[in-house]
Amino acid sequence: MFKRHRNLRKTTGIRKLVRDVYISVDDLVYPLFLEEGTGIKTEISSMPGQYRLSLDMLDEELNILNELGINSVLLFGIPLEKDSFGKEAYNDIGIVQEGIKHIKRHSPNMLVITDVCMCEYTSHGHCGIIDESGVINDITIEYMAKIALSHAKAGADIVAPSDMMDGRIKAIREILDENGFEELAIMSYSVKYASSFYGPFREAANSAPAYGDRKQYQMDYRFSIDAISEVRSDIEEGADIVIVKPALSYLDVIKKIKDTFEVPIVAYSVSGEYSMIKAGSLNGWIDEKNIVMEKTYALKRAGANIIITYFAKDIARYLREDK
Ligand code: PBG
Repeated sequence: MFKRHRNLRKTTGIRKLVRDVYISVDDLVYPLFLEEGTGIKTEISSMPGQYRLSLDMLDEELNILNELGINSVLLFGIPLEKDSFGKEAYNDIGIVQEGIKHIKRHSPNMLVITDVCMCEYTSHGHCGIIDESGVINDITIEYMAKIALSHAKAGADIVAPSDMMDGRIKAIREILDENGFEELAIMSYSVKYASSFYGPFREAANSAPAYGDRKQYQMDYRFSIDAISEVRSDIEEGADIVIVKPALSYLDVIKKIKDTFEVPIVAYSVSGEYSMIKAGSLNGWIDEKNIVMEKTYALKRAGANIIITYFAKDIARYLREDK
């Protein structure tokens, strides 16, 4: 009998020749939590190894990223003051806006992506403007557009709206185009499930809703069809790149989008995924390096082009070690 794959995996040289899934340091995006103030470097207790940093403490981090060859960051802001309209989110000298300018001064080649949302800026912790009935979609998208524009003016390369309101991509595209930012790309959190895997992030960004949850505007993981329609409408409205979030429990969704659309796909390996692996490895129960690489390859194999991960620096080091 003809055994087609008889020897292909036995010899290192042939294995390297025929394998078809790769991770490159260029695929990686590292999230940064920027906190207003000075002298701040606070470890996030549920995410060992991850910090909230004030801008005066940022250069050391940027030097490490540059040294490792990581060229993309995703910014989250933690403002000093919150209010019901989240006005620090679109303050032209707010924490993210100043963060963008700082990073561009220090590392002009760093690609800066900004999370466009209100939950870190509102006193109630919801992702938009609310009344008694919940988040008001159409008013919120006007705010999203304002936030995106202020990030663009500060020098962001890509804006990434994560609020999940209907029509926000169109609203953001229009305001960017009207203000001369036609070339600025939108990376949309198109597929964002209402997930318990975001738990540690809410500690990191101080953004847990004061009451209720985000089920009104995030997706229900008990449905499998919504993902396609969310991506389709975002692409129609002008999204250039789409995010699936969380990543690891949603490989099927990544694959389905890959098979249906011609659009770059981002897998966001979220805070809870990081914390679980860290907890396991700090206890000596699992091998951190091998687990991180295995799951990152799984995301690439499923069809993700870009990976947002708190392990970005580790992965960059592993890739070097294994060369
Ligand atoms: C919203 C936002 C969240 C995350 C990214 N953007 C929190 C949420 O939707 O509740 C979660 C990321 C993570 O868990 O790592 N601004």
